[in-house]
Amino acid sequence: TSLARFVDPLPIPPVMRAAGQRAHPRYPGRQLPYYRVEMRAFKARLHRDLPPTSMWGYEGAFPGPTIDVKRDEPVLVEWINALPERHFLPIDHTIHGAEKGKPDVRTVTHVHGARVPADADGFPEDWYTPGRSALYHYPNGQDAATLWYHDHAMGITRLNVYAGLAGAYIVRDSEEQALQLPSGGYDIPLMLCDRLVAQDGSLYYPVSDDPSAPWVMQCNGNLPLCNGKIFPYLQVEPRRYRLRLINVANTSFFDLSLSHDQAFQQVASDQSLLAKPLERARIELYPAERADVLIDFSAWAGKTIQLRHQSQGILEFRVGASTGSKVPALPATLRDVPRIDSASATQHRVMALTEVDDANGNAMTMLLDGRRWSDPISEKPRQHSIETWSFVNPTGDAHPIHLHLVRFQIVDRRPFDLFAWNARRELKFTGPALPPEPHECGWKDTVRTDPGMVTRIAMRFEGEPGRYVWHCHFLEHEDNEMMRPYELLPA
Ligand code: C2O
Ligand code: CU
Repeated sequence: TSLARFVDPLPIPPVMRAAGQRAHPRYPGRQLPYYRVEMRAFKARLHRDLPPTSMWGYEGAFPGPTIDVKRDEPVLVEWINALPERHFLPIDHTIHGAEKGKPDVRTVTHVHGARVPADADGFPEDWYTPGRSALYHYPNGQDAATLWYHDHAMGITRLNVYAGLAGAYIVRDSEEQALQLPSGGYDIPLMLCDRLVAQDGSLYYPVSDDPSAPWVMQCNGNLPLCNGKIFPYLQVEPRRYRLRLINVANTSFFDLSLSHDQAFQQVASDQSLLAKPLERARIELYPAERADVLIDFSAWAGKTIQLRHQSQGILEFRVGASTGSKVPALPATLRDVPRIDSASATQHRVMALTEVDDANGNAMTMLLDGRRWSDPISEKPRQHSIETWSFVNPTGDAHPIHLHLVRFQIVDRRPFDLFAWNARRELKFTGPALPPEPHECGWKDTVRTDPGMVTRIAMRFEGEPGRYVWHCHFLEHEDNEMMRPYELLPA
């Protein structure tokens, strides 16, 4: 595109401040910080040279304000739907949950990666309409991690998130603090996505050629956005920074690198710190995946360096003049990541990612194990039990699969015989199991399931009994049947 590069400063979302203190029946005798977050329509300047863009956002911004919490310190958030009554993006009324007669504008917020009781998880059918709100409680009983919040309303999640309903949610803990990683203004969430932006600045959401069923299988933008800006720059000091990279795109993945052959030091993945810092030249992030990286700008004083997606610069760092101060050494180790012994699992589930074709043989809908959202719940793990789930992927795409409530580890990926699978549903491996790469050896909540592979994960089902969901995090797929409820049964 012809938009000028690096003319707007990178927005850094403000940290949300509590509106006061409140009691909650789940936490008897306590007063908890209480946040009010309003979803509103607003106009954004995505770029200096573009007219304002109509969007929806938490607190009227995209990204929404960052919610910053400490481990084991619960908070209350009232998520208020103050949006207009009409949607500005194309709803497909043939999709389950978005039928004609349902209100256009429905929202429910999910904190992605939070270990939260079912009544505050943002179940897709728990949506509500403009003028209403939901008071959710978050126990925050989990390791320091970069989480994020986003809309999850049944059948229109892709449109609501595309409109701008997403923000960062950061959990901190004392163990991480002791490592003295860059903090305060040197610790920056970077929400990456892409959008189709028209010349007049408006957001365009792609549609199929059937006006009565506009759903499309994927949505890739023409422009990358960093914290809601197109090609911004960030003024930095010649020191080390922590960037929390979060892919909040509908379908696009990011293939990130730094110019000048600089490397990242990755310190965390989705759900917590890695065992030790990993030097990485390239970082690939599928939708909803996170990577926290450290970047040392001290050797680039007075110069510029770019964050790239593939070969395109998407964010420029302008490094200030040298101050002569030395950058402290990195800790050699970060956090213990004890491996889950998959042999101790009491349940091994094998689930296929499948496609349903339309009359013309075009892939139409993606399903999880051949089941639809409304089919009876088939996954009912027991509280505290360990399970492995194997995702058989005979499709042509790498789907990012996400489970609510739990964090998991990747056990392996193994190629299988597509012909035997398609003909007889026989699972025949054609090669050895590949262990996860070092950067995938930490705690995850979203996993790339490669085509032609069985991707196996292991997790312990900690959390409160109740109904949660698992789904593909390509939002177009999730909205159209590639999402299933699961039920955590009491121990
Ligand atoms: Cu990030 Cu169920 O979602
Ligand atoms: Cu998918």
